[in-house]
Amino acid sequence: MAAMEEEAIVLFPTPAIGHLISMVELAKLILTHHPSLAIHILIAPQPYNAGSTSPYIATVSATIPSITFHNLPNVDLPPTSSPNHETLTFELLRLNNPNLHQSLRSISETFTIHALIMDSFCFHALSVAVELNIPGYYFHTSCASSLSCFLYLPTVHNATTKSFKDLDNLIDFPGVPPIPSGDTPKPLLDRNDPAYDCFLNCAFSMAKSAGIIINSFESLEPRVNKAISEGLCVPDGPTPPIFCIGPLIAASRSGGEEAVPDCLRWLDLQPSGSVVFLCFGSLGLFSIEQLKEIAIGLERSGLRFLWVVRNPPTQEHGLAVTAQPEPDLDLLLPPAEVEKRVRELMDSEEGNSIRERTLSMKNEAKAALSEGGSSRIALAKFAESWKQC
Ligand SMILES: *[C@@H]1O[C@H](CO)[C@@H](O)[C@H](O)[C@H]1NC(C)=O
Repeated sequence: MAAMEEEAIVLFPTPAIGHLISMVELAKLILTHHPSLAIHILIAPQPYNAGSTSPYIATVSATIPSITFHNLPNVDLPPTSSPNHETLTFELLRLNNPNLHQSLRSISETFTIHALIMDSFCFHALSVAVELNIPGYYFHTSCASSLSCFLYLPTVHNATTKSFKDLDNLIDFPGVPPIPSGDTPKPLLDRNDPAYDCFLNCAFSMAKSAGIIINSFESLEPRVNKAISEGLCVPDGPTPPIFCIGPLIAASRSGGEEAVPDCLRWLDLQPSGSVVFLCFGSLGLFSIEQLKEIAIGLERSGLRFLWVVRNPPTQEHGLAVTAQPEPDLDLLLPPAEVEKRVRELMDSEEGNSIRERTLSMKNEAKAALSEGGSSRIALAKFAESWKQC
C-alpha cells in the first residue's frame, strides 16, 4: 500500500515583519484546528532594509515543528522612478514568480498542497497557483473596510479619468464612510504611478481568487461585511467567499529571559484602561514637523499615552524605507511638560462612551473566537472550501 501523502498548505506573506507575523498567526490558528497539516511558509527577500526578520523566523521554526520556512532566492530589482516603497515590494514579488513556481513544485513532490494563501501584495502569485492547479486564497492582513476600498478600486477607476490627487471629491466605497479623494493612501494618489497599477491589478486578482481571509470579525464591521458579501464591491462579476477569522493576536514574544522594557514597567503602574497606544507600523514614518504636531496634539488631548516613535525618514533612492536608528526624543519632541498637562479625558462622558464601546468590542471579539462564534465558523468554512478542491 502506498504511503499516505502528507497534506499541506503553503503561505506566501509579504516579507515585512508586520505581514509576516500576521501570516504566522494565521498558520497557528489553522494548525490549532487542523493539527495534522504541514504548513510551509515562503519567504521572499526584503526589497529594502526594514529590519531583520530572521530572529523571529528562527524562534517560530524552533517552537512549531509543523511550520517550515523556505527562503526564495534574491532577485535583482531594476531601478524604479516610483516614489513609493510599495512599488518595490510588488516588483520584487513579481520577479520571484519563477522561484515561487519552483518551490511549489518541489513541495508538491512530498505533499498534497491544498491551498496557497497569499498576502494581498503577492497578487502575481495567483497565476502560478492557477497554473499548478492549487486553489489560491488571499489573506488580507488589514480590516474589512480597507478590503472594500481595494475591491472597489476598479469601479472608482472606471468612473473618472483623473488621479485621486486631482479629484477633490468624496469617494463612496461600499459600506465605508465617504473618504476625501486626497486622503486615499499615497500610492493610490497618482494613477500614473506604477504602484497604482499594481493595486488595481491586485483588486482584479483578489476578485478572481478562491476566497479572501480577513483579520477581522463579523460584528466589528457589520456594515462593510454585508456590503462585500452582497457583491457591491465587485459589481462586474462574482465576489469570492470572504472569511472573517479574526482577530488574530500575536502572543507575547518574550521567553521570560528578556528584561521588561521601561515603557512596560511604566504601563503597569498606570490605572487600568487609562493609556492610549499609538503605533503606525514599521513603515509609518513621519517628518519632524508631523511628529511635533502629533506630540502637541497628544499633549493637548490630556491623555496618558504610549507612542512608538520612529526617526523621520532620510532620502535613500527617494524612498523612506531604511531601518532607522533610535530617535533622539529630546531633539524631536517639544520640551517632553507633557505629564503636567495631563487631563483625565477618561473621566469625560465621551471618553467613557468610547471605552464602553471598546470593551464591548473586546467581548464581541472573544465571542467570535469561541466555540460556535462567527470567526470559528468562518475558519471551518474556509477549510471546507479547500477540502472540496
Ligand atoms: C472597468 O472597465 C473595463 C473596461 O471597459 C471593464 O472591463 C471592467 O469590467 C470595468 N470594471 C468595473 C468594476 O466596472
